[in-house]
Amino acid sequence: MAALAFELQHTDNNSKARAGKMTTDHGEILTPIFMPVGTAGSVKAVNQQQLERDIKAQIILGNTYHLYLRPGTNILEEAGGLHKFNGWNRPILTDSGGYQVFSLAENRKLKEEGALFQSHIDGSRHLFTPENVMDIQRSIGADIVMAFDECTPYPCEYAYAKKSMELTHRWLDRGFKHFYDTPDKYGYSQNLFPIVQGSIYKDLRVASCEYIASKGAVGNAIGGLSVGEPEEMMYEFTELCCGHLPSEKPRYLMGVGTPWNILECISLGIDMFDCVMPTRNGRNGMLFTSKGVINIRNKKWATDFTPIDDGIDCETSNYYTKAYLRHLFVANEILALELASLQNLTFYLWLVGEARKHIIAGDFRAWKNGMVLRLKQRL
Ligand code: GUN
Repeated sequence: MAALAFELQHTDNNSKARAGKMTTDHGEILTPIFMPVGTAGSVKAVNQQQLERDIKAQIILGNTYHLYLRPGTNILEEAGGLHKFNGWNRPILTDSGGYQVFSLAENRKLKEEGALFQSHIDGSRHLFTPENVMDIQRSIGADIVMAFDECTPYPCEYAYAKKSMELTHRWLDRGFKHFYDTPDKYGYSQNLFPIVQGSIYKDLRVASCEYIASKGAVGNAIGGLSVGEPEEMMYEFTELCCGHLPSEKPRYLMGVGTPWNILECISLGIDMFDCVMPTRNGRNGMLFTSKGVINIRNKKWATDFTPIDDGIDCETSNYYTKAYLRHLFVANEILALELASLQNLTFYLWLVGEARKHIIAGDFRAWKNGMVLRLKQRL
């Protein structure tokens, strides 16, 4: 089957924003795109039919770390891969596990060979290497596989950031070789994206971009941002990296972010995003809407009988009221989590779809500036 292809359909004259089309063996993805996070093979609180029909997700994420620990590659292989296992027949991207090892696992230890860690579930010991995370992602059946990297924290000393970036590059060489020495697992094309690191040091970021670009991968990712640095710094480094990564390949900014972060980064040349924010914050009662941010637990919504969000095309959010959703949260009803997740994800997918329309129409920059102000409002 065919390797992932990317067609740049339109580039904006007044910003670096682009509209494109990615083609995978599990279907097309129109960019810019947001990818809902389905850590353990499920986007929390929504099912695959809702993802496709209501949210209009085009690609979802899975996590190597979680899926490797549970259900494990034996079960995933026996199922014929994650698509068959969870019934999501569109593209899947998996993160490589390094990031999760550092945020979740216990007693982790970094070595040249890879990352040693203990499972957060049962304390069992494991070793992730740049090679075995390629095998695991192939077994999961990801259409897009991420290289094994170390995401440096913020703040991070220059010397550590440099050493870590060099390790990420050596891991990339090993992962790349192994990936291309092994066949696609299930007959469709699997594609590897390398990840830029370098913390908040310009020379390191440029060096990392050049190294990553030299691999000639079908797409490239930017990691190590949105880890606690000021927003302006995240934009500055996103812009710098976009300027040093090939323009004809998709650019993926990992783990970003708020709706306004996404709009600003689209304007800097990013094509792909993922973030737990719409689902995680949603489950805590934070709603992102086309009019601004709502804390639905707030008493002020108790008698607001207007729709959750009538500004987006979402049957659920047009139908149920803010007062009802607040009641569900206050009463600890499970439905609260589902409705909030549906609202936030549908809103995120609506937002990137609108951005794409405005890029193609040629008025993206003005639209984006107005939208950023509106979306940041606390209602
Ligand atoms: N998710 C958010 N940031 C990162 C990163 O730097 N590396 C990886 N692998 N995943 C991420």
